[in-house]
Amino acid sequence: MKFAAAEDRLILALDVADRAAAERLVEATDGIVGVYKVGLEFAMAGGIDFAGELARSGRAVFLDMKLLDIPNTVAGATRTAGALGVKYLTVHAYPQAVRAAASARPEGLAVVAVTVLTSLADTDLTEAGYHTKVDALVSERIAAAAASGADAIVCAPFEATEAKRSGLAVITPGVRLAEDPSGDQKRVATPQQAILAGADAIVVGRPINAAPDPREAASRYRDAIVEALGAL
Ligand code: C5P
Repeated sequence: MKFAAAEDRLILALDVADRAAAERLVEATDGIVGVYKVGLEFAMAGGIDFAGELARSGRAVFLDMKLLDIPNTVAGATRTAGALGVKYLTVHAYPQAVRAAASARPEGLAVVAVTVLTSLADTDLTEAGYHTKVDALVSERIAAAAASGADAIVCAPFEATEAKRSGLAVITPGVRLAEDPSGDQKRVATPQQAILAGADAIVVGRPINAAPDPREAASRYRDAIVEALGAL
C-alpha cells in the first residue's frame, strides 16, 4: 500500500448528511486531500452511490463501514464494496470478520481493521462489558488483524508505533491541530505526533468539514503532514 504524496496521507471524513454537502467538500479540497472517506452518516443518504461515482472519477475512496457480522455477510459486503471501485474498506478487528473480508477482497481493495474506536477510554470498555483496558485490547487486536490477513490498521495516534511493528499500514483518526476542538475523540494527537509515531495516513473530519473555509483548514493539516515527514 503506497502513501507516496502528502495528499495520499490526508483522508477527509465526509461525515455529512447529503450529497450537496459532500460535493462542496470534495470540490473545496481538490488537490489537497487525496482520499475521501464515506462513513455511516453519509452512507444512509446516498453516500454509497457517491463513493462509487467518486471512485470511477479516479479518486481514492475509503469506505468506512466498520463491518462486523457473520463471515458470509462480511465476505459478501466486501465483494460488493470492491465492485464499487473503492480502495479501502473498514472491518472491526475481530479475527472472524477480518478473515472473511480478507478472503473475499478483490484486487485493489485494502481491508482495514479498526482496533478500538478512538472515542473509547477504559471506562467505556468497562461499561461495554470488557474486562480489559484500551491499551491491552488494542495490542490484541493489532496482532489479530495482522494474523487474520488485514492490509492496514486503524488505531489512535499514540498506538501507531506498536501498530507499525505489525508490518501493516497504519491509519489514525483522532487527529487535531492544537487550535481545533477534540469533540468526542478521547485519544487525540496532532498530525505531526501521529506521523512521527508511525501513522502512514490520518483521518480528519470535523476540523475541516465544520471550518468556515474547509480548503484553508485542509491545507493546515496537509502542511502539518509535510512538516512531520520532513522530520522523519
Ligand atoms: O470529525 P473527526 O475528525 O473526529 O472524524 C474522525 C472520523 O474517523 C469519523 O468519520 C469516525 O467515524 C472515524 N473513526 C474514528 N475512530 C476510529 C475509526 C474511525 O474516529 N477508531
